[in-house]
Amino acid sequence: MQTSSAGEHPNDSAPVQEPPQFAERFVDRRQAEHYRDRFKKGRRARTNCLENALLRQLGERIGHIQVALDLPSGTGRLSRTLLEFADNVILADSSSAMLEVAREELPDPRVSCRLMDAESISLPDASVDLVFCHRFLYHVTSESRRARMLNEMVRVTRRYVILSYYPPGFLNRWRQFRRRLLHRGTSGGSQLPENQYREEIRAAGLRFVHEVAFRHFPVTGVFFVLERA
Ligand SMILES: C[S@@+](CC[C@H](N)C(=O)[O-])C[C@H]1O[C@@H](n2cnc3c(N)ncnc32)[C@H](O)[C@@H]1O
Repeated sequence: MQTSSAGEHPNDSAPVQEPPQFAERFVDRRQAEHYRDRFKKGRRARTNCLENALLRQLGERIGHIQVALDLPSGTGRLSRTLLEFADNVILADSSSAMLEVAREELPDPRVSCRLMDAESISLPDASVDLVFCHRFLYHVTSESRRARMLNEMVRVTRRYVILSYYPPGFLNRWRQFRRRLLHRGTSGGSQLPENQYREEIRAAGLRFVHEVAFRHFPVTGVFFVLERA
């Protein structure tokens, strides 16, 4: 899939390069366990706590709902917090290894796991109250694919979508700069600018109702709470 990666190592000899495939980093059991474990210690454990605390605050604002779709759920890092305000949570991801680990992490009868591509969500129209999409959409490098994913989220939600955005950190900005030089001035592989992301979200038929920033040096992430316009 055409998505950008936070940990790529461009091949300097190639004249024009696409960044390595984002989804390839989450395919097998070892990668899934690595993703689960990296958020359990040090700086990332603090990030994990912060993200869950902010999602909890957003849940208090949204109130009780019946069904939340966590897409992509990864290993279910934030799904437990969704369960605090949703009766049922559907964990959906394109990686069966990530879902396998998520199932072990969250053995709860209110949770169901579905193998799914965000570009074609296998759920009926208006079948969930909230789509929660974290650390994902802004990595997708193809504008048309992002649009299809956003349209699918709008189709399946009765009301809410929560999206996140993290600007690239220093290391990634340096990598993007280097990649631009290799691409002889084209912007291939750069992360989606926040303004463009906001425009695409509006174009999909969502309106911004609330947003909350989470600061942890050196980057500031943000959760957008959106409603169907
Ligand atoms: C960075 S992880 C984020 C997971 C989770 N939201 C979190 O914050 O921990 C990105 C996830 O996107 C999944 N993914 C990649 N491409 C996808 C697609 N087209 N449809 C659904 N999931 C996808 C990967 O398998 C991976 O689990």
